[in-house]
Amino acid sequence: MSQATYSLRQSLQLQRRSISQKEREHFDYCIHQNLIKSGILLRSNRIAGYFSNNGEPAVDLLMQICGERNLAFYLPVINKRNLRFCLYKWGDDLQNNVFNIPQPANQHSLPSQFLSTILMPLVGFDSQGNRLGMGGGYYDRSLSFTLASSCKKKPLLIGIAYSCQQVKNIIRQNWDVSLDAVITEKGLTCFSSTAEQLLHSHR
Ligand SMILES: Nc1ncnc2c1ncn2[C@@H]1O[C@H](COP(=O)(O)OP(=O)(O)OP(=O)(O)O)[C@@H](O)[C@H]1O
Ligand SMILES: [Mg+2]
Repeated sequence: MSQATYSLRQSLQLQRRSISQKEREHFDYCIHQNLIKSGILLRSNRIAGYFSNNGEPAVDLLMQICGERNLAFYLPVINKRNLRFCLYKWGDDLQNNVFNIPQPANQHSLPSQFLSTILMPLVGFDSQGNRLGMGGGYYDRSLSFTLASSCKKKPLLIGIAYSCQQVKNIIRQNWDVSLDAVITEKGLTCFSSTAEQLLHSHR
């Protein structure tokens, strides 16, 4: 990893963590509203999300709604150096992974090509949909099948971020999996034609 990428990750993470609690709650609520407005609950029947860590936006409200409506929701579970997406219903038992992030205790996983949407946390993103993660390569490795030209079926990849995480340019490495769209407190931005067809910024 270059020194520039290291410094960019550090400064973006610092910025993300320094959002006040009050502002964070407001932003998370706006992100939730933008998720609902995008129509993903109507167009996706198998959504994966995450438990917020290190200042990432929380998508707990969406998890709760999925639980109430009996919509299948999945959370990442670390398996060696990859992620498996396991069914999780709000209130189910959790156990911490090696990074102290809660993951479902009951691990019924679904191969990720069968997920309709994955909500992905990120450290930084740019106007092209390039994504900078925490640096572990977990999402990139687990979703590397989407990079193959033969891949016909892939989940819609939506980055969930605060607008302060947008940067001018992220240098995409050949293993990096790009985003189809990003949702921040300010709204939805689509990067792929699939996202443009599936998602709406206004209801
Ligand atoms: N498909 C892959 N196969 C093998 N190694 C990979 C693959 N994708 C990423 N990696 C490895 O993971 C390391 C970290 O990748 P990168 O810096 O892009 O992480 P990231 O995108 O920030 O993290 P994450 O994917 O967890 O959000 C890279 O140095 C690379 O060696
Ligand atoms: Mg990457």
